[in-house]
Order: sequence, then structure tokens, then C-alpha cells
Amino acid sequence: MDMHFDVIVIGAGPGGYIAAIRAAQLGMKVACVDAWKNKDGKPAPGGTCNNIGCIPSKALLQSSENFEQAKHHFGTHGISTGDLRMDVTTMLERKNQVVKSSNEGILYLFRKNKVQFFNGLASFTRTVDGGFEVSVAADEAVTLVGKQIIVATGSNVRPLPNLPFDERVVLSNDGALDIAAVPDRLAVIGAGVIGLELGSVWRRLGADVTILEGLPSFLPIVDQAIAKEAKKAFDKQGLKIELGAKVREVNATEAGVTIHYTDSQGQTQSLQADKVIVAIGRVPNTEGLNPAAVGLQLDERGAVLVDDECRTSVPGIWAIGDVVRGPMLAHKAEEEGVAVAERIAGQHGHVDFNTIPNVIYTSPEIAWVGRTEQQLKEQGTAYRIGSFPFMANGRARALGDTPGLVKVIADPATDEILGVHVVGPQASELVAEAVIAMAFKASSEDIARICFAHPTLSETFKEASLAVDKRALNF
Ligand code: FAD
Ligand code: NAI
Repeated sequence: MDMHFDVIVIGAGPGGYIAAIRAAQLGMKVACVDAWKNKDGKPAPGGTCNNIGCIPSKALLQSSENFEQAKHHFGTHGISTGDLRMDVTTMLERKNQVVKSSNEGILYLFRKNKVQFFNGLASFTRTVDGGFEVSVAADEAVTLVGKQIIVATGSNVRPLPNLPFDERVVLSNDGALDIAAVPDRLAVIGAGVIGLELGSVWRRLGADVTILEGLPSFLPIVDQAIAKEAKKAFDKQGLKIELGAKVREVNATEAGVTIHYTDSQGQTQSLQADKVIVAIGRVPNTEGLNPAAVGLQLDERGAVLVDDECRTSVPGIWAIGDVVRGPMLAHKAEEEGVAVAERIAGQHGHVDFNTIPNVIYTSPEIAWVGRTEQQLKEQGTAYRIGSFPFMANGRARALGDTPGLVKVIADPATDEILGVHVVGPQASELVAEAVIAMAFKASSEDIARICFAHPTLSETFKEASLAVDKRALNF
């Protein structure tokens, strides 16, 4: 087999596998190398997102939400369920099946698009005439030569100092997706996206969950009106979140953990739990890549240094996704992958960083695009706000899911939408409308004048837009 390629993509997470497909669509000869294997030793492309991130976490969120609905909410519909039990093994098997089908889907897409896939760890060896040499440590080691390289090696979990993950008692997001039986008491360190999503899963299934967050404010990256509403809902559900908790020491044994911390009042406290999930952020990953062999520069966090268009310090090498600056989100990685493939093909690939949506898949869901009110205040930018509560929306009442609101922020002079923030049912889907609106530079008046189907949750976006001009109709 000829091992010379137009493009070698290193990593088959959402950034890498999408970049490989797009490059192949554009007529290039493409190889994609990925090291991930599943528990059976089979290739498992899809990266963090598919194997231990977006997809398995959403599978468990769905199972646990179904359980919670049956346990606490079916009764209001007149449905009685008798003795309700959760078979965690079946839930985990279903989750594994969802992951496996996505792994297989990506392998199918590689075949369909004629991307040559190699399952092994890729390392730069040297710069060669007209390209770069990459060695792949696989069952049969191979050396590939690429004219252009796209580094999409993603991120790794960040441990607490002196507290290595054993994935039995001290869990990363990986182990947190594989707990064999619902623990009585579960501690989580970090009330960020992973802490809230996975904390919610195990709380819904019956664990007593306490989340310790180092910062004094809850979800500072989220619009604070939305964060406040979400916190109210989590408190009501019994998800305990302690802010301003400085973790001092964690003692872990097979029997459980004791976490010693200082609370927001400066008092020394200790928390005992059967297991702890540590979710304090992730770090860019270049392990095994040997970037020095080709002179690739990293920043102080270990991220590959890139410009706005994902060009690294070495002409011909590009980097995308979690391994570079910017939000660690699958869809951001994908968009960068497409844009880079198009740039290599001489086209004008583009990613609009102002309209990348964010979602936290809790219940209620939290989703937003654009700037928050606190960011606008800090920047000294003038704005107008319109809010609309789900309580005043007919569809939300029919669903029996009324906590939350939609908040639209617009420029007072031009009325262009600057940000849309949602906490409530289907926020992850509703935010797509706001992304489209902002991508087309819509004004709040544009949205206010569009006909939305009734009764739908989407009407909250129209009503919040009307509210910017103080003319909401149903509130
Ligand atoms: P990755 O997905 O990390 O993929 C990198 C791949 O490169 C891996 O397969 C790795 O094995 C491979 N690799 C690394 N080095 C080498 C090498 N030298 N040779 C060969 N292969 C190599 N984001 C969302 O947008 N929505 C969500 O709902 C969401 N949920 C998440 C839930 C959890 C629990 C976690 C942990 C993350 C979640 N994320 C979510 C974040 C998302 O997973 C990442 O942003 C995304 O996976 C980044 O994609 P990537 O392609 O840059 O890297
Ligand atoms: P995060 O950055 O979202 O949250 C980490 C939290 O831990 C922060 O609130 C931080 O203040 C806190 N923290 C840090 N050190 C601490 C300490 N020593 N003690 C107590 N608290 C501490 O990171 P997280 O949740 O680990 O997720 C990693 C990345 O994965 C995120 O950046 C996110 O982009 C991505 N992700 C995205 C999801 C989505 O899009 N729905 C879901 C899950 C993860």
C-alpha cells in the first residue's frame, strides 16, 4: 500500500473524523490515525465525545430521566407504575451499545469516503521533503508520509494533585459513566458541565449527591439570571451544591472517601462518600505525539499554538478541537475540522466563534449563544433585554415542565440580537433557532414578527423577542 497521503489526520474524535471526511470529499487522499480501542480491543473511533463524553453521558441522562419521570411525574398523568426498579447493568449495556453503534458508524463513513483508517498511536518522526513522516504504533507498525497534517488529539481529564484516578472510588468522567451500582453517597468535585450532568444522572437514580465547587458563584460562564433559575431547580431536586468549597485533602480507600475542605465561611468541614467524581476541567492532549520532532510549538497549558485559522507554528501542520484554544466542545471541533479541510483545498473555510452554542444537558437544560448580560456590562456595551417564562407557555404547561425562561439580549441602537439564554425544557433544541437568528444577524424585531407554530416551546423565543420591545403578548 502506498503510504503517501495528501492529508494525515491524527485523532478520530469529532474534530478529526469530520476533518478526514471533508478532506476526502474534496478529492484528497486521506489517512486518519486514532489510538482508541474498546474493551474488546477493537478500534473505537469517535474520540472522547463518542467513547467517554457526549454520547454515553447523554445515554445515561436519558435513562435516568426516564426513571425520574416514572418515579415522580407519571402519577400526575394518572399512570401508576407499582414497584419501580432500576437495573443499572441493563442501563450501562444500553449505553455501551449506543457507543458501539457510533464507533461502527464512523468506520462505515471512512469506508464510504475512502479515508484510510489506522488504529494506533501516531508520533511525528521528522520533517521530510514535501511533508511530514508519522509513525503509527499499531499491531503492525507503519510509517506514513503526509503533505499536510491535521492534529486533532483532543484532551485528557485533569486530576486533583495527589489524587490519582483508580476508577473504582476516585472517578474521572470515564469511571463516572460506568458505576456498577447506584452509590448511597456520591461526592463530586467541580460544579461545571460534567459535575452537573453526571451528578444529575446518579442523583436521579437515588444517590445522595453533593457537589463541591471551588468558586463562590454558580456557573459564572452562564448568564446569571439563567444560572440562578437553574440553581433553584437543582436545589428543589435535592442536588446539593456547595459553593466556595476549598478542597484541602482527600483520603480514599476501597471503602470510600473523606474529603476535607474549607467552606465559604472559612470553617473546616469533611464530607464522606462512597465514591468521588473529580470534574475540574480537562487539559489539551499531545501525549505520544512527539511534537518536538517537527518543531510544533505548544502554549503554557500544553495546547498546540494556532492562529485564528488553526495554522500551527509549522507550515503544513494544522490543529483543531480540544487540543487548541477555545471552548472544548464537539461541535466547535467539527466546525474547525471542516474549515481546515476546506482551507487545505484552497477554499475559504470559516468558523464563527460568536455563534457557537453551549448546552448543559441537565434538567432543566441550560443553553445559550452569544454574550451574557454580565459580559456586556463588563465590556460597557449597551443592551436591552426581553425575558419570557416557560410558565406562560401553553406547550410547557401541557408537558408539565414549566420551570425556566428565555432571555433575549439585543443592541438598543440596531436591535441586533447579542445573546440568547435559555433554561428550561428542550433548551438544547431551542437554542438552535437563536444560533440561526444570530448567524443571519437578525434583530429581535425580526424574530418578533415571525409566525411560530402553536402550541410549541419555540414560541418562548418569539415572546422573549417581543418582550425586548415590552410587548410580550402572553405575559
Ligand atoms: P477527542 O474527542 O478527545 O478525540 C481525540 C482522539 O485522538 C481520541 O480518539 C484519541 O485517542 C486520539 N489521539 C490522541 N493522541 C493520539 C495520537 N498521538 N495518535 C493517535 N490518536 C491519538 N461536548 C459537546 O459539544 N457536547 C457534549 O454534550 C459534551 N459532553 C461531554 C461529556 C463528557 C463527560 C466529556 C468528558 C466531554 C464532553 N464534551 C461535550 C466535550 C467533547 O467530548 C470534546 O469537546 C470533543 O470530544 C473534542 O473533540 P476532539 O476531536 O478535539 O478530541
Ligand atoms: P468545567 O470547566 O466545565 O468545570 C470545572 C469546574 O470545576 C469549574 O466550575 C471550576 O471552578 C471547578 N474547579 C476547578 N478546580 C476545582 C477544585 N480544586 N475544587 C473545586 N472545584 C474546582 O470542566 P468539566 O466539567 O471538567 O468539563 C470539561 C470540559 O468538557 C468542559 O470545558 C466542557 O467544555 C466539556 N464538556 C461539555 C459538555 C457539554 O457541552 N454539555 C458536557 C461535559 C463536558
